[in-house]
Amino acid sequence: MAPSVVDYSLYLVTDSTPAILGDKDLVAVVKAAVEGGATIVQYRDKNSDTAELVQVAKQLHQVTKPAGIPLLINDRVDVALAAGVEGVHVGQDDLDLKTARNLLGPDAIIGVTANNLEEALEAARDGADYLGIGTVYATPTKENTKSIIGTAGVQQILNELDAQGHSDVKTVAIGGINAGNARRIMYQCASPQKQLDGVAVVSAIMASDDPNQAAHNLQDLISRPPPFASSASKQQLSRDDLIAKVPSIIARMASKKPLCHNMTNLVVQNFAANVALAIGSSPIMSNNGLEAGDLAALGGSLVVNMGTTTPEIRSNHLKALEAYNAVGGPVLLDPVGAGATQQRREGVKALMAGAYFDVIKGNEGEIRTVAGAQGVKQHGVDSGASQLNLEDRIRLVKGMAAREWNIVLMTGSTDVISDGERTLNISNGHKYLGEITGSGCTLGTTIASVMAVEREDKLLAAVAGILMYEIAAERAGVREDVRGPGTFVPAFIDELYQIRQESVSGDGKWIEAAKVEIA
Ligand SMILES: *[C@@H]1O[C@H](CO)[C@@H](O)[C@H](O)[C@H]1NC(C)=O
Ligand SMILES: *[C@@H]1O[C@H](CO)[C@@H](O)[C@H](O)[C@H]1NC(C)=O
Repeated sequence: MAPSVVDYSLYLVTDSTPAILGDKDLVAVVKAAVEGGATIVQYRDKNSDTAELVQVAKQLHQVTKPAGIPLLINDRVDVALAAGVEGVHVGQDDLDLKTARNLLGPDAIIGVTANNLEEALEAARDGADYLGIGTVYATPTKENTKSIIGTAGVQQILNELDAQGHSDVKTVAIGGINAGNARRIMYQCASPQKQLDGVAVVSAIMASDDPNQAAHNLQDLISRPPPFASSASKQQLSRDDLIAKVPSIIARMASKKPLCHNMTNLVVQNFAANVALAIGSSPIMSNNGLEAGDLAALGGSLVVNMGTTTPEIRSNHLKALEAYNAVGGPVLLDPVGAGATQQRREGVKALMAGAYFDVIKGNEGEIRTVAGAQGVKQHGVDSGASQLNLEDRIRLVKGMAAREWNIVLMTGSTDVISDGERTLNISNGHKYLGEITGSGCTLGTTIASVMAVEREDKLLAAVAGILMYEIAAERAGVREDVRGPGTFVPAFIDELYQIRQESVSGDGKWIEAAKVEIA
């Protein structure tokens, strides 16, 4: 079988251990999975003796061969030869690729596990047909997970494979992949140059009570882009054309009154609720993950705020995120104080591994933590002293947005925002925003509310939210009745309300105050 015709999209790796397989019959499970939509099978069994391996491999081959699906043997070239199957998969500690190729011949399919860039490039150079890249996420099936590389790590490898002339080596991601994350992993691992050819799953099928249905479901999930994927191409609008669209978007928000679902931070609830009402969205507070599905169905957006976080809150967050991701409801992550404590760093990791965020908004330290920067020390949750110059901030924000396929906003005296292709800096706002509680949080509420009504162009939606918010602050800050942060808050809420009313009545002049530049 020529490797070029192999469909790698749903790659099943078997597991015969009782913890995964239970008392099911291995061959029957594989048969059901193949009927359900698995496109390639790797027989992996580290415990059985050679005679048994050969015998089971032959049985499996009687299932896969009539279906036109390749069967590969993990590690054991001798077993592959004895059973007459299509190829092998070798790990880094197994027989080397060149020897395997010599033994099996040019037509055999040979795949290699790659945990990092060096291993991937070496295997590609040595003529691997495909790479199993991972470990993407922690997995119950392999205790010895050397390195969890996440979607960002997989993407980096895909990028380099392409850059170094190996764009035709096939790739599947492996590690902790299941129906809950397969589609997002396909989406977020992709680099603009090179996409994954498929996902490898173990327990998502092998441990299922209904392997046929499990395979069918997975195949269905990975065959379409996720609901949160941007459909529109990123329009290269001029600064003025972009800004000109903002007032009508704000008017649209005010007429639709989208639900803004907050999972948050009890510190500034009342203020945030008032902001939400002033801008024309409907706030709802719920930290109960179990009702998130019902709320997600109402067409609004979700704000996940890490201001107060515990493992229990996190599990509620993940339930809600799953519900919003499943319907493509916009989600904003506010990683408050992300780098400040071990708890929070772990929280960020778990959230990033568990969900897609349409927008990640934070100050420099928070964004650096989320981006995986090492050595970011954060004292408390204030923004602290800036460590990066504008150019570096732009590079970080743009790179992270491209990597995550989302919008990243780094707030500061000049905000930097990007969708990975288009990057803007925004210098509106007022110093009193830094003197009151909840200003960062309520900016998140505002952006998320706009995103609920402007789904085509996420960057435009976020920019509209920022400008409404920061221009209202500017207008409030210079009012005569405002003498400090205390009088600022009600004036600010009034100005948000005013901007909304002006937009609704077709008066968009307020946007002339925008200080936005294309970076
Ligand atoms: C909304 O979200 C913000 C930001 O996460 C939070 O601080 C606030 O308490 C929430 N407010 C309401 C009314 O849900
Ligand atoms: C915005 O970005 C442009 C281009 O990088 C730069 O020239 C300008 O100084 C920036 N504006 C501010 C206020 O930082």
